[in-house]
Amino acid sequence: MPDEVVSATALTKRYRGKATPAVDGVSFGIAEGETAGLLGPNGAGKTTLIKLICGVTPPSDGSIRVFGRDPAREPVPTKQDIGAMHQTGPYDQMLSGLDNLRIAARFRGLSWRETEPWAAEVADYLGLTEALPRLVFQLSGGQRQRLQLVRALLTIPRLLVLDEPSAGLDVAGRHQVERFVHWLRGEHGVTVLWTSHHIDEIERNCQRVLVISKGRLLRFAEPRALVREYGGGRLVVTGADQVAAKAVAAWAEAAGLRATVDDTEVGIDGAIGKDVIPAVVRHCAEAGVTLTGFGTVADSLENVFLRMTEKG
Ligand SMILES: Nc1ncnc2c1ncn2[C@@H]1O[C@H](COP(=O)(O)OP(=O)(O)OP(=O)(O)O)[C@@H](O)[C@H]1O
Ligand SMILES: [Mg+2]
Repeated sequence: MPDEVVSATALTKRYRGKATPAVDGVSFGIAEGETAGLLGPNGAGKTTLIKLICGVTPPSDGSIRVFGRDPAREPVPTKQDIGAMHQTGPYDQMLSGLDNLRIAARFRGLSWRETEPWAAEVADYLGLTEALPRLVFQLSGGQRQRLQLVRALLTIPRLLVLDEPSAGLDVAGRHQVERFVHWLRGEHGVTVLWTSHHIDEIERNCQRVLVISKGRLLRFAEPRALVREYGGGRLVVTGADQVAAKAVAAWAEAAGLRATVDDTEVGIDGAIGKDVIPAVVRHCAEAGVTLTGFGTVADSLENVFLRMTEKG
């Protein structure tokens, strides 16, 4: 499809000597301009999937297309379209950050004279200007991580691939990266694939999330849809007094739901979407106790993710 930036069909990668594939029959399409999240436990196959997209490693089976091209067969144009921030960024530790950027530019066939003003702007935005002339081994972990982002963005790519961009960054640094990517999307329509173990980051920034476990794609859906589908949610019922609260808790437990009472408030787990409210109201009316409030607390994507991948 022309409006798909990345399309994978039954994509599989088996590493030599491994009994199970690292990526196992995965099919999905990332739309132009979309920010797609990639979630999965350690070893799920996220980095392998990214390597397949970047053409760093060829698939064992199935196919991967990036802007309609096979990345392993046409690595040069593919690399020109992709800005990638890899999980392990190899640097020459004995050279300055600036020299590492110069080398990366040369490697990508870019003129440093033309690239430098933009690279300097990105570095400045990330608060890296003063650190750039220092040797890489003198930089802090967070500074190295920011340097990776500058390197991935020597030009504005059509597809930005971020493999755990915020690993080792402090809270302010994470927000800086998020704001910057947001700006890139808005200003330049960049398509983004974003891997992170910070699920809140994925929830804030991605329209859809690929959830993978043991190389298999469990779902590719909007975070909210996943929460609706897999999230239990919690209903909080407030009684007029403790007698009312106890009556609600007793009803919930008899219905097989877990309830916890705190003074006049009762929390009922996994109650959302199960038509519990009318049943509670009916029961309380029959029992002659008064309720004064209902509230719902949605499940977090983090809980949903744990539930999905434990099952997966
Ligand atoms: N070059 C390789 N050779 C052999 N096996 C590999 C290679 N790279 C990765 N693997 C294996 O493939 C599986 C998936 O690894 P991958 O790095 O893709 O996981 P990941 O989801 O990125 O994990 P993490 O969250 O830890 O970064 C793992 O079992 C890993 O040991
Ligand atoms: Mg990884």
